[in-house]
Amino acid sequence: MIKTANFDFYAPTKVVFGKGSVDRLGALVKAQGCSKVLIHYGGKSALKSGLIDRVRAALDAEGIGHVSLGGVVPNPHLGLVYEGIELGKKEGVDFILAVGGGSVIDSAKGIGYGIADPEQGDVWDFYVKKRKSTACLPVGVVLTIAAAGSEMSNDSVVTNEKTGIKRGHGNDVSRAKFAVMDPELTMTLPDYQSMSGCTDIMMHTMERYFTNGGNMELTDSIAEGLLRTVKKYTQIIHAEPDNYEARAEVMWAGSLSHNGLTGCGAAERDFASHILEHELGGMFDVTHGAGLAAIWGTWARYVYKDCLDRFVKFAVNVMEVTPGATDEETALKGIEAMEDFYRSIGMPTSIHELGIDYTDEQIEIMAHNAIIASGGKRGSAKVLYEDDFVKIYKAARDDR
Ligand code: NZQ
Ligand code: ZN
Repeated sequence: MIKTANFDFYAPTKVVFGKGSVDRLGALVKAQGCSKVLIHYGGKSALKSGLIDRVRAALDAEGIGHVSLGGVVPNPHLGLVYEGIELGKKEGVDFILAVGGGSVIDSAKGIGYGIADPEQGDVWDFYVKKRKSTACLPVGVVLTIAAAGSEMSNDSVVTNEKTGIKRGHGNDVSRAKFAVMDPELTMTLPDYQSMSGCTDIMMHTMERYFTNGGNMELTDSIAEGLLRTVKKYTQIIHAEPDNYEARAEVMWAGSLSHNGLTGCGAAERDFASHILEHELGGMFDVTHGAGLAAIWGTWARYVYKDCLDRFVKFAVNVMEVTPGATDEETALKGIEAMEDFYRSIGMPTSIHELGIDYTDEQIEIMAHNAIIASGGKRGSAKVLYEDDFVKIYKAARDDR
Protein backbone atom coordinates (compact mmCIF):
# COMPACT_ATOMS: atom_id res chain seq x y z
CA MET A 1 0.00 0.00 0.00
CA ILE A 2 1.26 3.48 -0.85
CA LYS A 3 1.89 5.43 2.34
CA THR A 4 2.42 8.88 0.86
CA ALA A 5 -0.76 10.83 0.27
CA ASN A 6 -1.24 12.80 -2.94
CA PHE A 7 -0.85 16.53 -2.51
CA ASP A 8 -1.01 19.92 -4.22
CA PHE A 9 1.69 22.42 -3.37
CA TYR A 10 1.03 25.98 -4.48
CA ALA A 11 3.26 28.83 -3.37
CA PRO A 12 2.83 31.68 -5.87
CA THR A 13 4.07 34.47 -3.59
CA LYS A 14 7.24 36.23 -4.70
CA VAL A 15 9.47 36.58 -1.65
CA VAL A 16 11.86 39.53 -1.48
CA PHE A 17 13.97 38.85 1.58
CA GLY A 18 16.71 40.65 3.44
CA LYS A 19 18.16 43.89 4.73
CA GLY A 20 16.95 46.89 2.76
CA SER A 21 14.32 44.91 0.85
CA VAL A 22 11.72 47.63 1.54
CA ASP A 23 13.63 49.77 -0.99
CA ARG A 24 12.31 47.50 -3.73
CA LEU A 25 8.69 48.04 -2.78
CA GLY A 26 7.84 50.70 -5.38
CA ALA A 27 9.01 48.52 -8.26
CA LEU A 28 7.18 45.51 -6.86
CA VAL A 29 3.87 47.36 -6.64
CA LYS A 30 4.38 48.92 -10.05
CA ALA A 31 4.91 45.48 -11.58
CA GLN A 32 1.39 44.61 -10.43
CA GLY A 33 0.02 47.13 -12.91
CA CYS A 34 -2.32 48.67 -10.37
CA SER A 35 -3.49 52.27 -10.26
CA LYS A 36 -4.59 52.84 -6.66
CA VAL A 37 -3.39 51.09 -3.54
CA LEU A 38 -5.01 50.70 -0.14
CA ILE A 39 -2.21 50.77 2.45
CA HIS A 40 -3.47 48.76 5.41
CA TYR A 41 -1.68 48.73 8.77
CA GLY A 42 -2.09 48.17 12.50
CA GLY A 43 -2.13 50.18 15.69
CA LYS A 44 1.00 52.23 15.84
CA SER A 45 4.25 50.27 15.41
CA ALA A 46 4.52 50.82 11.63
CA LEU A 47 3.75 54.53 12.03
CA LYS A 48 6.18 54.96 14.89
CA SER A 49 9.04 53.24 13.07
CA GLY A 50 8.54 55.45 10.02
CA LEU A 51 7.72 52.42 7.87
CA ILE A 52 4.39 53.82 6.67
CA ASP A 53 6.13 57.03 5.55
CA ARG A 54 8.67 54.94 3.64
CA VAL A 55 5.88 52.95 2.00
CA ARG A 56 4.01 56.10 0.95
CA ALA A 57 7.21 57.64 -0.41
CA ALA A 58 7.95 54.49 -2.42
CA LEU A 59 4.50 54.60 -4.05
CA ASP A 60 4.75 58.35 -4.66
CA ALA A 61 8.09 57.88 -6.37
CA GLU A 62 6.45 55.48 -8.84
CA GLY A 63 3.44 57.78 -9.31
CA ILE A 64 1.06 55.21 -7.82
CA GLY A 65 -2.00 56.62 -6.06
CA HIS A 66 -2.84 55.45 -2.55
CA VAL A 67 -5.18 55.75 0.42
CA SER A 68 -4.51 54.45 3.92
CA LEU A 69 -6.47 52.59 6.55
CA GLY A 70 -4.78 51.84 9.87
CA GLY A 71 -6.12 50.55 13.14
CA VAL A 72 -6.00 46.76 12.69
CA VAL A 73 -5.87 45.11 16.12
CA PRO A 74 -4.50 41.63 16.96
CA ASN A 75 -7.34 39.14 16.35
CA PRO A 76 -8.47 41.55 13.61
CA HIS A 77 -12.01 42.85 13.71
CA LEU A 78 -14.68 42.30 11.11
CA GLY A 79 -15.83 45.92 11.61
CA LEU A 80 -12.58 47.27 10.16
CA VAL A 81 -12.79 44.79 7.27
CA TYR A 82 -16.22 46.27 6.44
CA GLU A 83 -14.74 49.76 6.70
CA GLY A 84 -11.92 48.80 4.34
CA ILE A 85 -14.34 47.36 1.81
CA GLU A 86 -16.36 50.60 1.84
CA LEU A 87 -13.27 52.77 1.55
CA GLY A 88 -11.73 50.60 -1.14
CA LYS A 89 -14.86 50.71 -3.28
CA LYS A 90 -15.31 54.45 -2.81
CA GLU A 91 -11.69 55.14 -3.74
CA GLY A 92 -11.56 52.61 -6.58
CA VAL A 93 -8.53 50.77 -5.19
CA ASP A 94 -7.28 47.81 -7.19
CA PHE A 95 -4.48 46.59 -4.91
CA ILE A 96 -4.11 46.17 -1.14
CA LEU A 97 -0.76 46.53 0.57
CA ALA A 98 -0.68 45.00 4.04
CA VAL A 99 2.06 46.51 6.21
CA GLY A 100 2.23 44.51 9.42
CA GLY A 101 1.72 40.99 10.72
CA GLY A 102 -0.85 38.23 10.45
CA SER A 103 -3.68 40.42 11.70
CA VAL A 104 -3.07 43.15 9.12
CA ILE A 105 -2.58 40.65 6.29
CA ASP A 106 -5.71 38.72 7.25
CA SER A 107 -7.73 41.93 7.45
CA ALA A 108 -6.36 42.92 4.02
CA LYS A 109 -7.41 39.58 2.56
CA GLY A 110 -10.87 40.05 4.07
CA ILE A 111 -11.14 43.47 2.43
CA GLY A 112 -9.91 41.95 -0.82
CA TYR A 113 -12.62 39.27 -0.71
CA GLY A 114 -15.28 41.88 -0.01
CA ILE A 115 -14.32 44.25 -2.81
CA ALA A 116 -13.94 41.48 -5.39
CA ASP A 117 -17.06 39.55 -4.38
CA PRO A 118 -19.14 39.18 -7.58
CA GLU A 119 -22.34 39.01 -5.50
CA GLN A 120 -21.34 42.00 -3.35
CA GLY A 121 -22.80 40.21 -0.32
CA ASP A 122 -21.64 40.03 3.30
CA VAL A 123 -17.96 39.07 3.44
CA TRP A 124 -18.52 37.28 6.79
CA ASP A 125 -20.51 34.65 4.83
CA PHE A 126 -17.20 33.25 3.59
CA TYR A 127 -15.84 32.84 7.12
CA VAL A 128 -18.93 31.07 8.42
CA LYS A 129 -19.07 28.87 5.29
CA LYS A 130 -22.39 30.26 4.10
CA ARG A 131 -20.97 31.02 0.65
CA LYS A 132 -17.78 30.15 -1.20
CA SER A 133 -15.43 32.93 -2.19
CA THR A 134 -14.32 33.04 -5.81
CA ALA A 135 -12.21 36.18 -6.05
CA CYS A 136 -9.96 38.46 -4.04
CA LEU A 137 -8.34 41.76 -4.90
CA PRO A 138 -4.55 41.27 -5.22
CA VAL A 139 -2.70 41.68 -1.94
CA GLY A 140 0.97 42.49 -1.30
CA VAL A 141 2.77 42.36 2.04
CA VAL A 142 5.48 44.18 3.95
CA LEU A 143 5.96 41.85 6.91
CA THR A 144 6.84 43.25 10.34
CA ILE A 145 6.49 40.17 12.56
CA ALA A 146 7.51 36.56 11.96
CA ALA A 147 4.58 34.51 13.18
CA ALA A 148 1.31 33.71 11.42
CA GLY A 149 2.74 32.86 8.00
CA SER A 150 -0.18 34.66 6.36
CA GLU A 151 2.26 36.23 3.89
CA MET A 152 2.43 32.87 2.08
CA SER A 153 -0.68 31.06 3.31
CA ASN A 154 -4.13 31.03 1.76
CA ASP A 155 -5.80 31.75 5.11
CA SER A 156 -7.46 34.80 6.59
CA VAL A 157 -8.60 34.70 10.22
CA VAL A 158 -11.03 37.38 11.36
CA THR A 159 -12.94 38.00 14.60
CA ASN A 160 -16.52 39.18 14.64
CA GLU A 161 -16.06 41.48 17.62
CA LYS A 162 -19.80 41.70 18.24
CA THR A 163 -20.18 37.95 18.83
CA GLY A 164 -16.63 37.00 19.87
CA ILE A 165 -16.50 34.42 17.06
CA LYS A 166 -13.12 34.05 15.38
CA ARG A 167 -13.14 32.18 12.09
CA GLY A 168 -10.72 31.39 9.29
CA HIS A 169 -11.34 31.28 5.58
CA GLY A 170 -8.91 29.80 3.07
CA ASN A 171 -8.78 30.23 -0.69
CA ASP A 172 -5.75 30.29 -2.98
CA VAL A 173 -7.08 33.42 -4.68
CA SER A 174 -6.06 35.38 -1.57
CA ARG A 175 -2.40 34.35 -1.58
CA ALA A 176 -0.15 37.39 -1.55
CA LYS A 177 1.43 38.45 -4.85
CA PHE A 178 4.63 39.37 -3.07
CA ALA A 179 6.04 39.53 0.45
CA VAL A 180 8.79 41.94 1.40
CA MET A 181 10.63 40.50 4.38
CA ASP A 182 13.37 42.46 6.10
CA PRO A 183 14.34 40.74 9.37
CA GLU A 184 15.47 44.10 10.76
CA LEU A 185 11.84 45.28 10.80
CA THR A 186 11.08 42.65 13.46
CA MET A 187 13.69 43.93 15.92
CA THR A 188 11.28 46.47 17.46
CA LEU A 189 8.88 43.74 18.59
CA PRO A 190 8.24 43.35 22.31
CA ASP A 191 9.72 40.06 23.55
CA TYR A 192 6.28 38.55 24.29
CA GLN A 193 5.18 39.13 20.68
CA SER A 194 8.42 37.69 19.30
CA MET A 195 8.10 34.60 21.47
CA SER A 196 4.41 34.17 20.63
CA GLY A 197 5.35 34.44 16.97
CA CYS A 198 8.04 31.77 17.28
CA THR A 199 5.56 29.51 19.09
CA ASP A 200 3.04 29.94 16.28
CA ILE A 201 5.69 29.20 13.65
CA MET A 202 6.62 25.92 15.31
CA MET A 203 2.97 25.03 15.77
CA HIS A 204 2.19 25.40 12.06
CA THR A 205 4.64 22.61 11.34
CA MET A 206 3.62 20.56 14.39
CA GLU A 207 0.00 20.66 13.22
CA ARG A 208 1.18 19.01 10.00
CA TYR A 209 3.62 16.62 11.74
CA PHE A 210 1.34 15.00 14.33
CA THR A 211 -0.77 13.16 11.81
CA ASN A 212 -1.90 9.63 11.19
CA GLY A 213 -1.36 8.54 7.62
CA GLY A 214 0.79 9.76 4.77
CA ASN A 215 4.11 11.22 5.85
CA MET A 216 7.22 11.30 3.71
CA GLU A 217 10.79 11.00 4.92
CA LEU A 218 11.73 14.16 3.00
CA THR A 219 8.86 16.16 4.49
CA ASP A 220 9.68 14.87 7.96
CA SER A 221 13.32 15.91 7.55
CA ILE A 222 12.29 19.40 6.47
CA ALA A 223 9.79 19.63 9.33
CA GLU A 224 12.19 18.39 12.00
CA GLY A 225 14.99 20.64 10.69
CA LEU A 226 12.68 23.64 10.73
CA LEU A 227 11.52 22.89 14.28
CA ARG A 228 15.06 22.43 15.61
CA THR A 229 16.20 25.61 13.87
CA VAL A 230 13.34 27.73 15.18
CA LYS A 231 13.82 26.32 18.69
CA LYS A 232 17.50 27.30 18.62
CA TYR A 233 17.02 30.81 17.21
CA THR A 234 13.99 31.58 19.35
CA GLN A 235 16.21 31.30 22.41
CA ILE A 236 18.81 33.52 20.77
CA ILE A 237 16.18 36.19 19.97
CA HIS A 238 14.90 35.94 23.56
CA ALA A 239 18.39 36.84 24.78
CA GLU A 240 19.49 39.11 21.90
CA PRO A 241 16.52 40.74 20.15
CA ASP A 242 18.82 42.55 17.69
CA ASN A 243 20.55 39.43 16.41
CA TYR A 244 20.01 39.69 12.64
CA GLU A 245 20.87 36.08 11.78
CA ALA A 246 18.42 34.78 14.36
CA ARG A 247 15.67 37.12 13.14
CA ALA A 248 16.36 36.02 9.56
CA GLU A 249 16.24 32.29 10.35
CA VAL A 250 12.95 32.67 12.19
CA MET A 251 11.39 34.96 9.61
CA TRP A 252 12.03 32.59 6.74
CA ALA A 253 10.87 29.65 8.85
CA GLY A 254 7.61 31.51 9.51
CA SER A 255 6.77 31.54 5.83
CA LEU A 256 7.89 27.98 5.09
CA SER A 257 6.07 26.63 8.11
CA HIS A 258 2.67 27.71 6.84
CA ASN A 259 2.95 27.64 3.06
CA GLY A 260 2.23 23.90 2.98
CA LEU A 261 5.81 22.67 2.55
CA THR A 262 6.04 20.91 5.91
CA GLY A 263 2.86 18.89 5.32
CA CYS A 264 3.41 17.53 1.80
CA GLY A 265 2.43 13.87 1.71
CA ALA A 266 0.59 13.79 5.05
CA ALA A 267 -2.93 12.46 4.70
CA GLU A 268 -4.48 15.30 6.63
CA ARG A 269 -3.47 18.26 8.76
CA ASP A 270 -4.34 18.13 12.46
CA PHE A 271 -4.93 21.76 13.46
CA ALA A 272 -6.96 20.90 16.58
CA SER A 273 -4.74 23.10 18.76
CA HIS A 274 -5.42 26.00 16.41
CA ILE A 275 -9.17 25.49 16.52
CA LEU A 276 -9.03 25.32 20.33
CA GLU A 277 -6.97 28.52 20.41
CA HIS A 278 -9.15 30.42 17.97
CA GLU A 279 -12.01 30.19 20.45
CA LEU A 280 -9.76 31.59 23.18
CA GLY A 281 -8.77 34.40 20.83
CA GLY A 282 -12.37 35.19 19.94
CA MET A 283 -13.69 35.10 23.50
CA PHE A 284 -10.73 36.45 25.49
CA ASP A 285 -8.62 38.25 22.87
CA VAL A 286 -5.48 36.32 23.81
CA THR A 287 -2.28 36.56 21.76
CA HIS A 288 -2.48 33.71 19.25
CA GLY A 289 0.91 32.07 19.87
CA ALA A 290 0.61 32.32 23.66
CA GLY A 291 -2.85 30.73 23.47
CA LEU A 292 -1.38 27.85 21.46
CA ALA A 293 1.37 27.28 24.03
CA ALA A 294 -1.20 27.29 26.84
CA ILE A 295 -3.34 24.59 25.26
CA TRP A 296 -0.79 22.43 23.42
CA GLY A 297 0.52 20.32 26.34
CA THR A 298 -3.00 19.34 27.37
CA TRP A 299 -3.93 18.49 23.79
CA ALA A 300 -0.72 16.45 23.38
CA ARG A 301 -1.32 14.39 26.52
CA TYR A 302 -4.90 13.78 25.39
CA VAL A 303 -3.96 12.45 21.93
CA TYR A 304 -0.42 11.05 22.05
CA LYS A 305 -1.34 7.38 22.48
CA ASP A 306 -3.25 7.53 19.20
CA CYS A 307 -0.23 8.91 17.36
CA LEU A 308 2.57 7.33 19.35
CA ASP A 309 5.13 6.84 16.56
CA ARG A 310 5.04 10.51 15.66
CA PHE A 311 5.33 11.67 19.27
CA VAL A 312 8.34 9.37 19.78
CA LYS A 313 9.96 10.68 16.59
CA PHE A 314 9.30 14.26 17.71
CA ALA A 315 10.77 13.60 21.16
CA VAL A 316 13.99 12.14 19.77
CA ASN A 317 14.52 14.12 16.55
CA VAL A 318 13.22 17.54 17.60
CA MET A 319 13.39 17.79 21.38
CA GLU A 320 16.49 15.55 21.39
CA VAL A 321 15.52 13.69 24.58
CA THR A 322 17.12 10.44 25.67
CA PRO A 323 14.57 7.71 24.92
CA GLY A 324 12.75 6.25 27.93
CA ALA A 325 12.16 2.58 28.69
CA THR A 326 8.97 2.52 26.62
CA ASP A 327 7.64 4.47 23.66
CA GLU A 328 5.02 6.06 25.89
CA GLU A 329 7.69 7.26 28.27
CA THR A 330 9.71 8.72 25.39
CA ALA A 331 6.64 10.48 23.96
CA LEU A 332 5.84 12.02 27.36
CA LYS A 333 9.45 13.15 27.78
CA GLY A 334 9.12 14.95 24.44
CA ILE A 335 5.94 16.72 25.54
CA GLU A 336 7.56 17.76 28.81
CA ALA A 337 10.63 19.02 26.98
CA MET A 338 8.44 21.14 24.70
CA GLU A 339 6.70 22.63 27.72
CA ASP A 340 10.06 23.34 29.36
CA PHE A 341 11.01 25.14 26.18
CA TYR A 342 7.83 27.25 26.33
CA ARG A 343 8.59 28.17 29.95
CA SER A 344 12.17 29.08 29.02
CA ILE A 345 10.86 31.72 26.58
CA GLY A 346 8.14 33.07 28.86
CA MET A 347 5.21 31.32 27.20
CA PRO A 348 2.33 29.92 29.29
CA THR A 349 1.67 26.18 29.56
CA SER A 350 -1.78 26.37 31.13
CA ILE A 351 -4.91 28.48 30.93
CA HIS A 352 -4.13 29.85 34.37
CA GLU A 353 -0.69 31.06 33.19
CA LEU A 354 -2.39 32.66 30.20
CA GLY A 355 -4.11 34.91 32.71
CA ILE A 356 -7.69 33.85 32.08
CA ASP A 357 -10.15 31.79 34.09
CA TYR A 358 -13.05 30.54 32.04
CA THR A 359 -16.25 29.00 33.43
CA ASP A 360 -17.79 25.62 32.58
CA GLU A 361 -20.45 27.48 30.65
CA GLN A 362 -17.84 29.29 28.60
CA ILE A 363 -16.15 25.94 27.92
CA GLU A 364 -19.41 24.58 26.49
CA ILE A 365 -19.73 27.61 24.22
CA MET A 366 -16.13 27.42 23.01
CA ALA A 367 -16.30 23.65 22.39
CA HIS A 368 -19.55 24.06 20.51
CA ASN A 369 -18.24 26.89 18.34
CA ALA A 370 -14.99 25.01 17.72
CA ILE A 371 -16.85 21.99 16.45
CA ILE A 372 -19.04 24.12 14.20
CA ALA A 373 -15.90 25.74 12.78
CA SER A 374 -14.50 22.22 12.23
CA GLY A 375 -17.55 20.84 10.45
CA GLY A 376 -18.31 18.24 13.17
CA LYS A 377 -14.88 16.80 14.01
CA ARG A 378 -11.25 17.78 14.00
CA GLY A 379 -7.80 16.27 14.09
CA SER A 380 -5.55 13.67 12.54
CA ALA A 381 -3.34 12.67 15.50
CA LYS A 382 -6.68 11.73 17.09
CA VAL A 383 -10.06 12.63 15.68
CA LEU A 384 -11.78 14.88 18.22
CA TYR A 385 -15.46 15.65 18.76
CA GLU A 386 -17.27 18.24 20.84
CA ASP A 387 -17.00 16.30 24.11
CA ASP A 388 -13.24 15.87 23.52
CA PHE A 389 -12.91 19.64 23.16
CA VAL A 390 -14.80 20.11 26.44
CA LYS A 391 -12.43 17.70 28.19
CA ILE A 392 -9.31 19.39 26.78
CA TYR A 393 -10.50 22.88 27.76
CA LYS A 394 -11.30 21.60 31.27
CA ALA A 395 -7.98 19.79 31.68
CA ALA A 396 -6.05 22.85 30.46
CA ARG A 397 -7.72 24.81 33.25
CA ASP A 398 -7.97 22.26 36.10
CA ASP A 399 -5.14 19.73 35.76
CA ARG A 400 -2.21 22.00 35.04
O1 NZQ B 1 -0.69 47.05 15.72
P1 NZQ B 1 0.76 47.31 15.90
O2 NZQ B 1 1.07 48.57 16.61
O3 NZQ B 1 1.52 47.16 14.60
O4 NZQ B 1 1.32 46.18 16.88
C1 NZQ B 1 1.41 44.81 16.51
C2 NZQ B 1 0.47 43.93 17.32
O5 NZQ B 1 0.16 44.52 18.55
C3 NZQ B 1 2.76 44.30 16.94
N1 NZQ B 1 3.79 44.44 15.92
C4 NZQ B 1 3.81 43.90 14.69
N2 NZQ B 1 4.98 44.16 14.10
C5 NZQ B 1 5.71 44.91 14.96
C6 NZQ B 1 4.94 45.10 16.13
N3 NZQ B 1 5.38 45.79 17.21
C7 NZQ B 1 6.61 46.33 17.11
N4 NZQ B 1 7.41 46.16 16.02
C8 NZQ B 1 7.01 45.46 14.95
N5 NZQ B 1 7.82 45.28 13.91
O6 NZQ B 1 2.58 42.91 17.18
C9 NZQ B 1 1.26 42.69 17.63
C10 NZQ B 1 0.73 41.42 17.00
O7 NZQ B 1 0.53 41.60 15.62
P2 NZQ B 1 -0.32 40.50 14.82
O8 NZQ B 1 -0.39 40.93 13.41
O9 NZQ B 1 -1.58 40.23 15.54
O10 NZQ B 1 0.63 39.22 14.97
P3 NZQ B 1 0.64 37.83 14.24
O11 NZQ B 1 1.44 37.91 13.00
O12 NZQ B 1 1.00 36.86 15.27
O13 NZQ B 1 -0.88 37.58 13.78
C11 NZQ B 1 -1.82 36.96 14.61
C12 NZQ B 1 -3.12 36.79 13.89
O14 NZQ B 1 -2.93 35.91 12.75
C13 NZQ B 1 -3.87 34.83 12.84
C14 NZQ B 1 -4.05 34.67 14.31
O15 NZQ B 1 -5.18 33.92 14.64
C15 NZQ B 1 -4.14 36.11 14.78
O16 NZQ B 1 -5.42 36.63 14.54
N6 NZQ B 1 -3.38 33.68 12.09
C16 NZQ B 1 -3.40 33.78 10.76
C17 NZQ B 1 -2.99 32.73 9.96
C18 NZQ B 1 -3.03 32.84 8.49
N7 NZQ B 1 -3.65 33.86 7.95
O17 NZQ B 1 -2.50 31.97 7.77
C19 NZQ B 1 -2.53 31.46 10.53
C20 NZQ B 1 -2.25 31.51 11.98
O18 NZQ B 1 -2.38 30.23 12.51
C21 NZQ B 1 -3.11 32.43 12.75
O19 NZQ B 1 -4.36 31.84 13.09
ZN1 ZN C 1 -1.14 29.89 14.02
